[in-house]
Amino acid sequence: MIKEGSVWKGVVTEFRQYLPEIKDSAIVTLLEGNTPLVETKNLRDSINKDIRLYLKYEGVNPTCSFKDRGMTLAVSKAVESGSKAVICASTGNTSAAAGAYAARAGIKAYVLIPEGKIALGKLSQAIMHGAQVIQVKGNFDEALTLVREISDKYPITLVNSINPYRIEGQKTAAFEVCIHLGRAPDYHFLPVGNAGNITAYWKGYKEFKELKITDSLPKMMGFQAEGAAPIVNGKVIVNPETVATAIRIGNPASWQGAVSARDESAGVINAVSDEEILKAYHLVAEKEGIFCEPASAASIAGVIQMNRKNIFKKGDTVVCTLTGHGLKDPDTAIKSSAEPVTRQAKVEEILEVMDL
Ligand code: F0G
Repeated sequence: MIKEGSVWKGVVTEFRQYLPEIKDSAIVTLLEGNTPLVETKNLRDSINKDIRLYLKYEGVNPTCSFKDRGMTLAVSKAVESGSKAVICASTGNTSAAAGAYAARAGIKAYVLIPEGKIALGKLSQAIMHGAQVIQVKGNFDEALTLVREISDKYPITLVNSINPYRIEGQKTAAFEVCIHLGRAPDYHFLPVGNAGNITAYWKGYKEFKELKITDSLPKMMGFQAEGAAPIVNGKVIVNPETVATAIRIGNPASWQGAVSARDESAGVINAVSDEEILKAYHLVAEKEGIFCEPASAASIAGVIQMNRKNIFKKGDTVVCTLTGHGLKDPDTAIKSSAEPVTRQAKVEEILEVMDL
C-alpha cells in the first residue's frame, strides 16, 4: 500500500503561513517550487575543494525558471481581486510564466518583449500558452515603462516584480534553501537583472531569522553582466548588451532592494564578463550534468571571481541559484560549442572519430 498525503502542493499552499493571506479558491498553481539543492563535487573541486558548493536548480520549475514562484502568487492575487488580465514586460522568462499561470487561471496575458532579444524557448512558451505577445522595438527597460503606464490606466494587473506578490512568492526559494540545509548558507550567489530575485531571497532569509527558524544570514552576492551592470556602475545603462539576454537590463526596477540586500548582508554586487559567463555555463554542464541558461551561470562565474579574491574560508557553505533551464536558449548552447562531426554510416568512420 502507498500512503497518500505527502504530495507537494506548490509554494503558496506549502508556505502559506509566511505569505499574504489568500482564499483557497483563488490559488493558481502548477505545483512549482521544491526544487533540488544539488551539492556539487566536480564543479566544487575545480573551483575550491575547501568549500561546500550547492546549486539551487530553479530550471526544473513548471515553466523552467524561478519566475513560477512569484507568478503563482501574483496571478492568484489577481484572480482573487477579480482581474481578468495580466501584463508584463520581459526578457523572456517572466512572459513564459505569466502566459502559463494566466492560462491555468483562464485569464488573458499580454507580454511585451524586446524584439529579437529573447531566447527562442521562452518565446515559444509565451506563444504556446496563448499570451498576446507584443515585440517592442526597444529594450526591456522601455517595455517596462510601457506596461507600467498601461496598467496604471487600464484594469490589467501588472505582474512584473514591482508587484509585491512576485517578491513574496520568490522569497520561498530562500526558505527552501534553509530547510534543505538545516541552516542558512554563508554565501548566496545569484544573477541580477531587474533585481527582484536578490531582493526576494534577502527578504526570505531575514524572515526565517526573525522567526528564529535560522540563526544566521548569508552574504548576498549578486552578479550583473558587464555590459548590463547599472548597479555596479552606479548609473542607468541606456543600451545594455550581453549574451545573457535574461539579464540584459539597464535600469532595474528593484535597484534599491538589491543595494539594501548587498549592504545589510555585507555582500557584493559585481560584474562578470560574457566570456566568464559562458565559461561557467559550460563548466557546470560538463562537470555536474546541470544545464542552465547563460544568465544563470553568472552566479557560478561570480563564485569563480570571488574565489580568485580568496574570500572563502574552509568549510564555507555556498549556494548558487541557477535561475533557468538551459533548454530555454538552445541557440546560445549550440553557438558556443564545437559543432558535432558528421560521417558516413560506416563502422570504420565512426570508430575513427571515437579514436578507438
Ligand atoms: N536569471 C534569469 C534566467 C532571468 O530570467 C532573470 C530575469 C534573472 C536571472 C534576473 O532576475 O530580474 O529578479 O534580477 N528575468 C526577467 C524576465 C527580467 O523578464 O524574465 P531579476
